[in-house]
Amino acid sequence: MIIYFSGTGNSEYTAKRIGKETGDETINLFEKIRNHDFSEISSENPWVVVTPTYAWRIPRIVQKWLEQTPLNGNKNIYFVMTCGENIGNAGKYLEKLCLKKKMNYSGCMEIVMPENYIALFSTPNEETALQIIDQAESVIDQAAICIKQGEVFPQADISFGDKIISGIVNEFFYPTMVHAKKFYTTDACISCGKCVSVCPLNNVHIENGKPAWGNHCTHCMACICRCPTEAIEYGKHSQGLPRYICKKDV
Ligand SMILES: Cc1cc2nc3c(=O)[nH]c(=O)nc-3n(C[C@H](O)[C@H](O)[C@H](O)COP(=O)(O)O)c2cc1C
Ligand code: SF4
Ligand code: SF4
Repeated sequence: MIIYFSGTGNSEYTAKRIGKETGDETINLFEKIRNHDFSEISSENPWVVVTPTYAWRIPRIVQKWLEQTPLNGNKNIYFVMTCGENIGNAGKYLEKLCLKKKMNYSGCMEIVMPENYIALFSTPNEETALQIIDQAESVIDQAAICIKQGEVFPQADISFGDKIISGIVNEFFYPTMVHAKKFYTTDACISCGKCVSVCPLNNVHIENGKPAWGNHCTHCMACICRCPTEAIEYGKHSQGLPRYICKKDV
């Protein structure tokens, strides 16, 4: 069974493409995470967890969901992480998670996809994004073939720098950078409520016709990138940058 979390569509596309190749069922974790649903699920096929990379590890909300949710049936679990550049030493923490869950870690595949972190970095325009996705497809297909054949993913080389970014930098990043304090709306807001419905943490609500952000943001970038009128900004950084959503269909 393929389970995925996705803020702006890269991991959704990747999960569905793997599902098409392996013929496996694909489940979006959005509702489960939003509703704090940690009820057990079962699969006879290996588990495949597809997520974005947040500070060189899987998102903490997915880590928490996996820690709390019993995955019954098949004991093998693959991880596929989409990223803008690299996943660092994420695999080390996933191996630890598997040990805790008494499951067999079958490896972690890095898939370089378009950068979506518009709050801190530059997002690509549509043409460049499609080129990056085209290049990623052969790696996604390699992952699907490994899963189909029951082989573990090839192990990537890990540098000292990878250990630092997935370790101490990740620990520092969440408390200092991940918050919703810099989100605001411009006059382009039409009060449609989409930013409310796309937030996996229920962190956006409408106050006097305009969105307001709470304290549970995980920086998935769904609200800012999915707003139909591009009315959301994150400080000054997002001004003038293209909003990124994966436009490719499986
Ligand atoms: C909070 C946050 C942290 C990120 N950290 C990393 C990172 O450490 N390394 C990297 O290569 N990309 C990083 N990215 C980029 C995303 O992992 C990448 O664009 C991913 O494919 C987005 O997936 P999605 O469209 O399924 O949400 C980050 C993005 C966000 C929003
Ligand atoms: S999605 Fe955009 S236009 Fe709609 S309510 Fe939110 S900020 Fe306003
Ligand atoms: S507030 Fe926006 S960026 Fe933060 S978790 Fe919700 S949708 Fe994602």
